[in-house]
This record gives sequence, structure tokens and C-alpha cells, in this order.
Amino acid sequence: MSTSTDPDLPPERRKQTHALPLESQGATKKSSEVFLCPVAQTDIPHLAQMYMKAYRGMEEYGEATTDQALLYLQGLQRHCSHSFFKAVIHGNTAGFIVCDPDWYEPGQKKVLEIHELVVDPDHQGYGLGGLFMRFARAMGRKHGRTAVSLWAGEGNHRAISWYTLKHGFEPGRRDGIWIHFQSSIQPMGWQ
Ligand SMILES: CC(C)(COP(=O)(O)OP(=O)(O)OC[C@H]1O[C@@H](n2cnc3c(N)ncnc32)[C@H](O)[C@@H]1OP(=O)(O)O)[C@@H](O)C(=O)NCCC(=O)NCCS
Repeated sequence: MSTSTDPDLPPERRKQTHALPLESQGATKKSSEVFLCPVAQTDIPHLAQMYMKAYRGMEEYGEATTDQALLYLQGLQRHCSHSFFKAVIHGNTAGFIVCDPDWYEPGQKKVLEIHELVVDPDHQGYGLGGLFMRFARAMGRKHGRTAVSLWAGEGNHRAISWYTLKHGFEPGRRDGIWIHFQSSIQPMGWQ
């Protein structure tokens, strides 16, 4: 990841162009440049629509309406304005991530918490989720965190297997229909 993508840089620098190559994963998928940009308030309505599209069929774990998704994302932006990023590919927003690098987990040191991670269904399977995951880990590492954590709905089997099989997350405690997952953040240069 280019250092210019560092989420802790001042907003003006963060707005500078930085491109990340999205790996080509098959003969029919071309590699693309992805720009990670801080989310502005004006982005939220579009992101709310994307959120509803991504959670279609899993409404139990999302929001009931686009208006509620809008309120939810506005609330996240108020709390995580420095760690709410969208991915832009060929001028189109393709996904977003909302993190909190100062999250307290009971009985632990602070962790990097992923509050929300969404890839537009039209862009899923091209490595963008993995790119967001690397970005989140880098943000956690920058803040001295040794773990990344998140909650997932128990029936969100696709995301859960993606987190556990692909990204090394382990399930922990439960809260109703929600399961907490955590994965370690290795120091830079760790093999
Ligand atoms: C979960 C989500 C973020 C993943 O994003 P994505 O961009 O599709 O993920 P990627 O393209 O990076 O993943 C592709 C890789 O994961 C692997 N993979 C995909 N689905 C998988 C699964 N269910 N289990 C294990 N591995 C999986 C692929 O084989 C591929 O591996 P490779 O890189 O070695 O070829 C996306 O599906 C999404 O937005 N879902 C809807 C919203 C949601 O559920 N968010 C999480 C809330 S907790």
C-alpha cells in the first residue's frame, strides 16, 4: 500500500491522488486502479443505496429501508469521520469501509474495529474487500493495535466464511444474532 493512502494523513494530503492496483483474478477480469478517498457527507445517500443493495436478502442484519441506512451511515460518519473511506474505480464508487482504531474491547487493549464493510455487488469478487481489509490492518498497525475485530450476523454465511477462511478471523462471544470475530494484526515485516 502506498504511504500516500495512510488514513492518518491530514485530509488535504489524503485527497491527493493515490492509486492501488486491484489484482487481476482471472482471464475475464482486468486489473484496475482503485482510489481510496475519505467519505464526504454528500456521498452518504449513494452509499446508503449501495448498502441496501449489498444487504439484499440479509435485511435482518442490515437496515429495513434506505432512509434508515442513511441515518445509520450518517451516525457512523459523525463518530468515525477520519476512518470512513470509499473506493473509487473508473470514477465510480465501488464500496466503503468504516473503522474505529480506538475501540475498546472488554478485557483487552484497544483494537481496530471495523464497523461496516460493503462492496457493491457489481464489484464483488475482484479483490476489493481484501484491499479494504489490508487497509484496515494498516490503519490498526499505524495506531499500534494488535487486533482487528468486527461483528457479523450469524446468518451472513458468505461474509463469515470470507472472514474466517480467507482472512483468519476467529469467532468469539455472541450477542443475540450477532457473533464477534477477531484476527491479529502482525507487525510490519512479519512473515
Ligand atoms: C464480504 C465482502 C465485503 C467481500 O468483498 P469482495 O470484494 O467480494 O471480496 P474479495 O473479492 O476481496 O474476495 C475474493 C477472495 O475471497 C475468496 N472468497 C470469496 N468468498 C469467499 C467465501 N465465502 N469464503 C471463503 N473465501 C471466499 C475468493 O476465493 C477470493 O480469493 P482469492 O483472492 O485467493 O482469489 C462482500 O461480499 C460484501 O460487501 N458483502 C455484503 C455486505 C456484507 O456482508 N458485509 C460484511 C458485514 S459483517
